[in-house]
Amino acid sequence: MTMLNVALPKGRLGEKVYSMFEKAGYECHAVMENSRKLIFENPERGVRYFWVKPSDVAIYVERGAADIGVAGKDILLEYNPDIYELLDLNTGKCLMAVAAKSGFRDDPARTLKVATKFTNIARNYYASLGRDIDIIHLNGSIELAPILGLSDVIVDIVETGTTLKENDLEVIETIVPISARLIANKASFKFKGQIIERIKESIAEQISEKP
Ligand code: PRP
Repeated sequence: MTMLNVALPKGRLGEKVYSMFEKAGYECHAVMENSRKLIFENPERGVRYFWVKPSDVAIYVERGAADIGVAGKDILLEYNPDIYELLDLNTGKCLMAVAAKSGFRDDPARTLKVATKFTNIARNYYASLGRDIDIIHLNGSIELAPILGLSDVIVDIVETGTTLKENDLEVIETIVPISARLIANKASFKFKGQIIERIKESIAEQISEKP
């Protein structure tokens, strides 16, 4: 039997997504055991799961180490991987937004300093506005940048808004809504298309059944 390799994003989102695969008939109970193990398989069901850092799922899928996986739209927009985006899972919802210190006024005569992990998203956004920017690429704790004067604004993910609020920052523009997507490797979609389609349909039904 051919195995279907599934890359799950480690964390709360991945656990929720695994339950969708389980309901679709691809259970592998050991996945939810709290261990440090990263790979699990259920040969009877023909499925193998691995826990991957959420921002790496698209790489596993693009390169074919996983046939399908679940990745945030933020990662797909930032890295533009060569994969198929099959379904919006309507979960893991947040916003890609521009934030600044309360009271910040943009001076269009000056180059805007933008700190972010998402340099491509930020570049494309400001290019679409025709705004000159200076990108400062950071790997985390982006919210510090405007506070310390390293940047004027940040481009980052806002979920509950708590991180911004606790650091006296506020959203000044929304760039794009983000959510988790089911993605597939292009060759796998050709050779394991039936099984992938079946999973997609089952998950789509589960989503539409929710109020
Ligand atoms: C993201 C983002 C913000 C935070 C927003 O970081 O960079 O810091 O979540 O969430 P909130 O609006 O609910 O406060 P994440 O925890 O994903 O990881 P990171 O620090 O590695 O970016």
